[in-house]
Amino acid sequence: MSDLDWTTLQSRWSFPTLVWFGAGRLAELPAALAELGVTKPLLITDRGLAGAGIIANAQAALEAAGLPHGLFSDVQPNPTSDNVAAGVAALTAGGYDGVIAMGGGSAMDAAKAVAMMVGQDRPIMDFEDIGDNWRRVEAEGMLPVVAVPTTAGTGSEFGRSSVITDPVEHRKAIIFHPAMLPGLVILDPEVTVGLPAGLTAATGMDALSHAMEALCAPGWHPMADGLALTALKMIRDALPAAVAEPANMEARANMLVASAMACTALQKGLGAVHALAHPLGARYDAHHGMLNAVLMPHVLRFNLPAVAPQMRTLAHWLELEGAEPGAAVLAWLKGLSQGIGMPATLGGMGLEIAAEDEPALIRDALRDPCAGGNPVTLTEAGLREILAAAR
Ligand SMILES: [Fe+2]
Repeated sequence: MSDLDWTTLQSRWSFPTLVWFGAGRLAELPAALAELGVTKPLLITDRGLAGAGIIANAQAALEAAGLPHGLFSDVQPNPTSDNVAAGVAALTAGGYDGVIAMGGGSAMDAAKAVAMMVGQDRPIMDFEDIGDNWRRVEAEGMLPVVAVPTTAGTGSEFGRSSVITDPVEHRKAIIFHPAMLPGLVILDPEVTVGLPAGLTAATGMDALSHAMEALCAPGWHPMADGLALTALKMIRDALPAAVAEPANMEARANMLVASAMACTALQKGLGAVHALAHPLGARYDAHHGMLNAVLMPHVLRFNLPAVAPQMRTLAHWLELEGAEPGAAVLAWLKGLSQGIGMPATLGGMGLEIAAEDEPALIRDALRDPCAGGNPVTLTEAGLREILAAAR
């Protein structure tokens, strides 16, 4: 534990975008909007959060500043292109000039996509992150976004993409444009205090998976490696505390910042955990973070032959006991996951994969953009092996 006062500590960073960190800074939402020139924002959140106290607090801050605003919350847990289209319609009808993205990954991704799509004539899937599709975006039509994450996991507030489900094809697509990065992020750990233990654990494991997959992704990106390693150590220390003591502001603050760092690191690449979690989440509407928690040890075991240097560094950095670094990291990962109540298998999270679904799941995992970042080249046989182990 540090000597810092986590209730009064504030910071202002410009990495990778403008960040206002500090407990209670949600109250500065009007100033954040002014910084981006927004005079009439649409607050976008998800159905589950719409009636929550933190949304009411945000609205109260806007009202106190005399800012006209609207609320759109028709966003489901794995947001679809229909949710985005409905948000664009609400935004256009109300004449709003900016977006407040407030919530977990689903609300954040939907809000970023709405702010982009309001200026586009093409359908959203035309901007899927394949090749140079992002160059099709009319960037001047995009609206500014202030992001306020209410979970510490997705890191979408620091991301330049949104994961949007195609409801017809039951497929998740990554929609990308560099200007989807929110213009300002308020990291207020107080906002995450009400998050239940189960969601704190599952979203925290999403953050951990971003850091782990980024560290293991091939390629030379020392900046991303540094962020990933620091995030992993912060999560090791803070996640069990945040799950056990929801009001522990130090744990909440460290998780929020570690999640943001892990998301910044993932520009190096993600791997099989996310390549599989995307089609599984799209098909069964399962929680992304919990899927990652279940898949991660099985994927790591599969990848161990290709990540010996990373495991040596990580085992040393985390001061893990054991002669074999890969085995030590794997044991640590399983212990952490189990200790915060995450299931060890897909069956344990109530997810039975029908035999007839498997070929489509594997096909979609192979064509997921994250598949290319796995340190072991993914094949049908390899993915079948991971799924069999995770069942
Ligand atoms: Fe993720």
